[in-house]
Parts: sequence; structure tokens; C-alpha cells
Amino acid sequence: MVLLAPSILSADFSRLGEAVAYVEKAGAHWLHIDVMDGHFVPNITIGPGVVKALRPKSQLLFDVHLMVERPELYLRDFRAAGADLLTVHAEVCPHLHRVIQAIKETGAKAGVALNPHTPLDIIKYVLEDLDMVLLMSVNPGFGGQSFIPNVLPKISLLKEWAKERNPELYIQVDGGINKETAPLVVEAGANVLVAGSFVFNHPNPAQAVAQLMESAQT
Ligand code: DX5
Ligand code: ZN
Repeated sequence: MVLLAPSILSADFSRLGEAVAYVEKAGAHWLHIDVMDGHFVPNITIGPGVVKALRPKSQLLFDVHLMVERPELYLRDFRAAGADLLTVHAEVCPHLHRVIQAIKETGAKAGVALNPHTPLDIIKYVLEDLDMVLLMSVNPGFGGQSFIPNVLPKISLLKEWAKERNPELYIQVDGGINKETAPLVVEAGANVLVAGSFVFNHPNPAQAVAQLMESAQT
């Protein structure tokens, strides 16, 4: 089963509560929340306050993608605000193992994200500790960018590793997912798809959710 996690980055920020309720009703499985600090990535988005405000509006799993430096400083705040899964970037964690344990201590599920160029080797020795690996298929910072096809062999390799060492692992792919790219990443081994602009810029976002789920099952 492939899960769909719409990213609210492309939703109307003046009506986020409605957007969240809308995608939940449309059948989305998780809600992907993109947190950016203006340092790790050249954009600034939302903090724990917004997560807290959205929490009572939805039953969806809150999948918080932390594109921030020093993510260890903010884990507790995001967890207290209602995050169910916290994903940090390997590129900003010299003590990645420690940060993964710190996520687990909050009671949240633990994810590690890798930029498109970052080799999979960086998570090789923590694979068993993770609930999810997020493979970026665009350079993080903005919605609406084009899918980078070189991520496909990386997804396949991760799937191979996961089969052996962590069969329950969520393999999430984020960036440029639409009804053409969704089947490619699923075929390679992804089981959680993030989609921002394809869902929220669609004239009928519920239809976009349905189209993605349909194309992902093939
Ligand atoms: C990019 C974010 C993504 C973004 C995806 O830095 O991590 O989650 O919202 O947007 P689309 O689906 O438009 O590529
Ligand atoms: Zn994201």
C-alpha cells in the first residue's frame, strides 16, 4: 500500500485549516508539513505554533519535515505541538545517531532526509533505528520544482537495504511528484509520496489526490 502525504507548502496559507480538512476528506493518509529556517534552505516557512493550531483540525498523521539547522533544538517543541513523525536532514547532523535517539525520546517516529546528491551511505549504520528515510527528488526549499530522475536508482538501493534490514521502513519521496512521476518512484520502491503543487495547484485538489493514488497503485 502506497501512502499519500500532501504538503501544505503549496496550500493557501490564509486558509490552512480548511486545506488540511479538505485533503483529509479527499483520502490523503498523512499531512506533510515543511519547516524551513532560511539557513539550511533559502526560504522560511512555519514553526511549531502553526502545527499546534492545525492539530485539532485533523486526525491525519503529522509528518514534519525539518529543513533547519540544529534540528535537535526544536524536536520537543514540534512534538508538543502535535508532530507524529519528525524528519531531520542528515546533512546538518554531525551526530545523527544522537539526534535520532532524541526524536524517539519525544515519542515521535524518526525520519532522516537526504538531499538529491547525498549518498545513501550516510544512513547505512542507522537504518535499523529509523521509521522513515525521506529521499529528496528536488533541492529542498521550494514547491513546484521538477523531479530529478537520478533519485530513482537511490530509491531502488534503499529498498534493497530495507528488505534485508528494516522491512517496515517508510521510504518517502518528496519533490516533483505528479501523476507521471508517482508510478516511477513506486516502481523503484517508494511507499510514501509527498505532493505539494500537484495537489494544491490543481483546479480540483480532491481529484489530484485520487489521480495520484490511482497512478501510485499501478
Ligand atoms: C521542498 C519540500 C516539499 C515540497 C514539495 O523543499 O520539502 O515537501 O512541498 O513540493 P512539490 O510537490 O510541489 O514538488
Ligand atoms: Zn518536504
